[in-house]
Amino acid sequence: MRIAAPTALLLLLQAVSGAATPDRDGDTQQLPLIAGPSRGPQQQQQRQPNVVFILTDDQDVHLSSLDYMPLVKKHLLDQGTNFKKHYATTAVCCPSRVTLWTGKFAHNTNVTDVMPPYGGYPKFLSQGYNDNYFPVWLQEAGYNTYYTGKLFNAHTVENYNSPPPGGFTGSDFLLDPHTYDYLNSTFQRNGQEPRSYEGQYSTDILAEKAYGLLDEAVDAGKPFFLVAAPIAPHANVVMKGSPNGSNDIHSVYFTEPVPAERHKHLFKDEKVPRTANFNPEKPSGANWIRELPQQNSTNVEYNDHFYRQRLRALQAVDELVEGLVERLEKHGLLEDTYVVYSSDNGFHIGQHRLQPGKSCGYEEDVNVPLIVRGPGVAAGYVADGVTTTHADLAPTFFDLLDIPARADFDGSAIPVEKEKFEEVKLAGRRREHAGIEYWGFAMGEGIYNRNPLEHNTYKAIRLSGLGYNLYYSVWCNNEHELYDMNTDPGQLHNLLSSSSTIQSTPSLAAGHPADKVAARLDALLLVLKTCAAETCQQPWRQIHPDGSVESLEDALEPRYDTYYEDKHAARVEYSYCANGFIEDAEGPTWQANGRPFGYGYEELRAGARWEDWV
Ligand SMILES: *[C@@H]1O[C@H](CO)[C@@H](O)[C@H](O)[C@H]1NC(C)=O
Ligand SMILES: *[C@@H]1O[C@H](CO)[C@@H](O)[C@H](O)[C@H]1NC(C)=O
Ligand SMILES: *[C@@H]1O[C@H](CO)[C@@H](O)[C@H](O)[C@H]1NC(C)=O
Ligand SMILES: *[C@@H]1O[C@H](CO)[C@@H](O)[C@H](O)[C@H]1NC(C)=O
Repeated sequence: MRIAAPTALLLLLQAVSGAATPDRDGDTQQLPLIAGPSRGPQQQQQRQPNVVFILTDDQDVHLSSLDYMPLVKKHLLDQGTNFKKHYATTAVCCPSRVTLWTGKFAHNTNVTDVMPPYGGYPKFLSQGYNDNYFPVWLQEAGYNTYYTGKLFNAHTVENYNSPPPGGFTGSDFLLDPHTYDYLNSTFQRNGQEPRSYEGQYSTDILAEKAYGLLDEAVDAGKPFFLVAAPIAPHANVVMKGSPNGSNDIHSVYFTEPVPAERHKHLFKDEKVPRTANFNPEKPSGANWIRELPQQNSTNVEYNDHFYRQRLRALQAVDELVEGLVERLEKHGLLEDTYVVYSSDNGFHIGQHRLQPGKSCGYEEDVNVPLIVRGPGVAAGYVADGVTTTHADLAPTFFDLLDIPARADFDGSAIPVEKEKFEEVKLAGRRREHAGIEYWGFAMGEGIYNRNPLEHNTYKAIRLSGLGYNLYYSVWCNNEHELYDMNTDPGQLHNLLSSSSTIQSTPSLAAGHPADKVAARLDALLLVLKTCAAETCQQPWRQIHPDGSVESLEDALEPRYDTYYEDKHAARVEYSYCANGFIEDAEGPTWQANGRPFGYGYEELRAGARWEDWV
């Protein structure tokens, strides 16, 4: 291990303990996203606020689905704040939801898939989260907690009570194998037997359940947190074989989503937006994506139909949002309640020639809606310019409800008030990056080419700051990607591909060459891929312990060139493609192989070679 001992030990200890720094009073204090003052006592609410959280499934930002939801616009976008740079850190349901409900990245939860052995409800249980996650913490803080809809995958008609999900005052969960059966769902209320709703529309049943839980919450007279998690606009799925769901993807049948009868006629002329990356003439992306054939017109027509079915299926969600807002108003609670809207991950249809699906690191799959309305939240405000992730949501809810942050949160509270957001945005230390990670396979969810594609394991950074807007990835076959998303929002021109004729663009971080930029991003990714708590919140501090670098812009100063471009420095790489978080496959880590700036730097400047110095 080539690393200077004292620092290595210190870093290792920090990483192992994953602890946040105690503040002067001995309380653990969350490190900021973000510079800027924390919430002052004068800002505390008179009454304890409530939260109603609508969590959709697979809803995009970039296929414009929100443009087709007039009631979300009326009640949430026009009355609240839209966080434009919000990212799912793992672009598939279960890992993303576990991140959301723990405030930890998937590399720390090790729930990395939708089904066992690497994921699903059984993995959530075996990782010990059932009595140590968000709803449990909220109850401990005096909140009543309610949930209806899909919680996790592989939460089934067989395992729903062994044990039941912890932490809910009232619940009515969708269960596998009928979770995604729009017209034959199975729900399971509190501890009771599952009930099948053959022939009824899933989102409408869910809406009635959500309204019922809201009434219960109001009657109970305590502050509450209510989640409504409909399946729309996820594909319709029929699972044959084991009622537990199946590891065998071939017994799971995906088709386009199903709208409610009353919405079937809508949007006859709509098509997937024909952006530059839609079914492009030339292959794009990396690894298996670059091998995809261009789609023929039959396939494209089906995918447009799939798209319309998504928009139609979202109409019942739109009505659900209005139903919840109206009932809050009727109860006199609208002014005391945060209404939050998001999705577990995004979705692509046809971009990079992909069949309908998710699980990629591209913008369509990772950039997700986050809309908040509520006490002190600006109406009609679009919050752009600070990058936030699903790991920040649990810390954000804690902050909104005035519950002290947990030391083990990987994320940190998003400043939801406009003034604070703007303050952070203008501060030099705002967060620029989202760490993105994925393990396992990808699959098409339409009727064409739906074979699972293995080796869809990668780590990536989505970073956007003043003057740059980038995506960097390392795949498990060690292919690399770098896109300048200012000039190439569709991620079509990989600046690191061996066939790329362009090595830089004027807007690529002030025209720096791609390899120079990539060297910095790789070091950041090396820290992020195993970060915990404060090292996730302040990853540049690991590399530059003196605090001199807080952003990519800082790191690009020429005086750091020798350091970042040192050929012997540890890089993000894989030894092989694994379907889960298998340590052997994951190559060097920052803790074991990284070296902070300052160690050996002077020697390197003086011409020493790194391996001689160690
Ligand atoms: C994550 O879980 C898998 C499956 O249980 C296990 O094989 C793997 O070793 C775990 N990874 C880590 C880093 O603990
Ligand atoms: C389903 O899971 C339950 C609980 O984990 C187990 O007891 C049962 O045997 C499983 N059933 C099948 C058919 O795999
Ligand atoms: C609906 O689901 C139930 C089980 O929950 C099953 O018994 C029934 O056959 C299903 N109906 C259809 C039409 O698939
Ligand atoms: C179009 O592509 C699909 C998916 O690859 C294929 O199944 C179908 O046969 C093709 N149709 C035509 C007319 O080529």
